[in-house]
Amino acid sequence: MRIGFLGLGTMGTPMALNMCRHFPLTVWNRSSSKYPPLIEAGAKIGSTPSQVAQNSDVIFTMLFDAAAIKDVLEDLRTSLTGKTVVNSSSVPEEFSHYLAKEVSRAGGRFVEMPVSGSKLPAEQGQLVGLLGGDAQVVEEIRPVLKPITCAAVHCGPIGYGLRTKYAVNLYVIALAVGLAESMNLARAQGIDPTVLGEVLNAGPMASAYSHNKITKITTEDWSSQAAVKDCYNSSKLICEAAEASGARSPLIQTCRSLYKEATEAGYGEEDMIAVIKALSRSSQSKNGEEYMVTVLPIPRTSGLDSDNPTATSQLGELYDGCDAAHSRDKREVLAAPPITTITALFVFLLDNQRQSPASVRSPRAPRLRPTSTRQAHYIHARPFWVQEEQSQCEQVSTGTPPWLVILHRVVLDVQVQVLARDLKRHVYAIDLRNHGESPHAHRHDYVAMADDVAGFISEHGLKEPTLIGHSMGAKTAMTLALDQPSLISDLVSVDNAPVDATLSRNFATYIRGMRHIEEAGATRQSEADKILESYESDIGIRQFLLGNLYRTTVASDDAKSEQKNVVKFRIPLDTLAKSLDNLGDFPFRNPDERRFEKPALFVRGTHSKYVADEVIPLIGRFFPRFSLVDIEAGHWVISEKPAEFLKAVIEFLTPKE
Ligand SMILES: NC(=O)c1ccc[n+]([C@@H]2O[C@H](COP(=O)([O-])OP(=O)(O)OC[C@H]3O[C@@H](n4cnc5c(N)ncnc54)[C@H](OP(=O)(O)O)[C@@H]3O)[C@@H](O)[C@H]2O)c1
Repeated sequence: MRIGFLGLGTMGTPMALNMCRHFPLTVWNRSSSKYPPLIEAGAKIGSTPSQVAQNSDVIFTMLFDAAAIKDVLEDLRTSLTGKTVVNSSSVPEEFSHYLAKEVSRAGGRFVEMPVSGSKLPAEQGQLVGLLGGDAQVVEEIRPVLKPITCAAVHCGPIGYGLRTKYAVNLYVIALAVGLAESMNLARAQGIDPTVLGEVLNAGPMASAYSHNKITKITTEDWSSQAAVKDCYNSSKLICEAAEASGARSPLIQTCRSLYKEATEAGYGEEDMIAVIKALSRSSQSKNGEEYMVTVLPIPRTSGLDSDNPTATSQLGELYDGCDAAHSRDKREVLAAPPITTITALFVFLLDNQRQSPASVRSPRAPRLRPTSTRQAHYIHARPFWVQEEQSQCEQVSTGTPPWLVILHRVVLDVQVQVLARDLKRHVYAIDLRNHGESPHAHRHDYVAMADDVAGFISEHGLKEPTLIGHSMGAKTAMTLALDQPSLISDLVSVDNAPVDATLSRNFATYIRGMRHIEEAGATRQSEADKILESYESDIGIRQFLLGNLYRTTVASDDAKSEQKNVVKFRIPLDTLAKSLDNLGDFPFRNPDERRFEKPALFVRGTHSKYVADEVIPLIGRFFPRFSLVDIEAGHWVISEKPAEFLKAVIEFLTPKE
């Protein structure tokens, strides 16, 4: 039997991977970033849902909700004659009836199979399938359920699988909220949650679920197995089902409002157990004012002294690890987490006492997050597939070649295509935080950016890609290589070195010029170029900087029209200006402590000062297998001498006889 799979999210990806080990599989997902592990496992990619259906006998849908299924249905229904559709997403019961009717009108058969179990059981092929639909169709598809389920229970006709699912989800959601509330109470009373975890795990309430979620709370691993936003969605469905059937449901009503609050507070993508953050958030201080609690990962070695918690340097430490430090909340409480030996450190930062994060210098030791909690929140990426001329449905190759990740988009698309073609590698060209189309973040330094890239690599399941970075991207790539050498296979650093450097005064000048363009309200690129001319005479560099412009509308000063078009830079100039010092830094100092023992190519512009001859011995100590290529160019080597750059990279990456 040939299987099709639509939706490669948290659940869809592991389910499809298990399926792929036993049946020929074709997959489709809205965003292509989810394909790499499936391609590696041997799945075919369908360019549309209907192409997946054409290649399959049984098609599974594991999309987020009913709206997502509706979005694919129009295309899907064109190829459903003689096919069986199995929907595993959790949707309202009436939607399942609608879907059954639509599939049948298109000549296919329909079964619902919501599942019990989250990411871990999905990875282990241990989900419980709750089947609803015609008994004969259910029996026919049983063999294909084996790779993904440990049990598949026929609950009744269409709708009954979902009814059972609502009841199951009520239990699991209430369990999560109960555990979170219990942990929160322990913490509020000064009990270390690891102690409570030990007690719960030893007693009769212990289960695989409680073990897993207790560990997630105590290690602050918020990576999603079942997301907060999904629990909010589910709790709404359960409330509707309870209302329709007249069942009393006081618990799930409360859970629903907590998950709503957690979603609205920005925790929607985090694991369901992150509901504990909503509980902490809404704690009331003694005088009745609301404050926010942020739990910080403070390392045991930080030497925090609980008798003197407000010392400036210690605040610097706290700020350094805390994404939420720049929260606009009026009052904020920073709490030491249970993983430290310090159990009760609360620092109240009222507005008037607050130190600016920029004014407290923290120790330099870089602190990247543990791999399990990394996420690529701040990265926007564009994939370039190697097999342009092949049908998208063909398997890319047997033995997928390593991926190439370019930081950040300094290489033109056409050059990326040449790299992909000549090296026969898929390429991701990514924008680092605060650049191009990536989200903006207040924190802008190499540790944070390397962390983003590590998150990107693990989220996309890329096995030891090659990193190519220019300038800021080069230092980010070097930071990652020295921190986590196992994540990548090799490295190309373009015109930068692993040393602290005072940035060329040009950078500050460029930012002044770019600010000038925005303040002058330039309306087109030529006008912007005219302004920038007085800051930089080289047209190549000006074009590079102006490549970040986009058009937008702002309120007009002119009485005749309300709005006018202007050009603005995508990158937040203020953040970059403030971060200029950080951008000169390199986080590692001692090559005896960190070394990247794999191949590394350093490409430098001979007219640039970023890789002086004196730093070459240091490069050799950090990167003992390095090679150096000089190209007659300034700092923007890639745009100045694209052919020479491509030649150097291709030579470096082409396997030697
Ligand atoms: N996670 C769990 O523990 C769990 C357990 C049992 C059941 N479920 C149910 O399983 C379903 C999937 O859950 P999940 O955790 O895998 O969710 P997820 O990680 O958010 O994945 C959602 C999937 O739906 C796709 N999608 C969303 N909107 C779309 C649209 N408008 N058009 C096309 N595709 C769209 C996403 O594509 P992109 O990749 O492009 O965003 C992604 O593939 C949900 O109904 C959930 O209730 C989840």
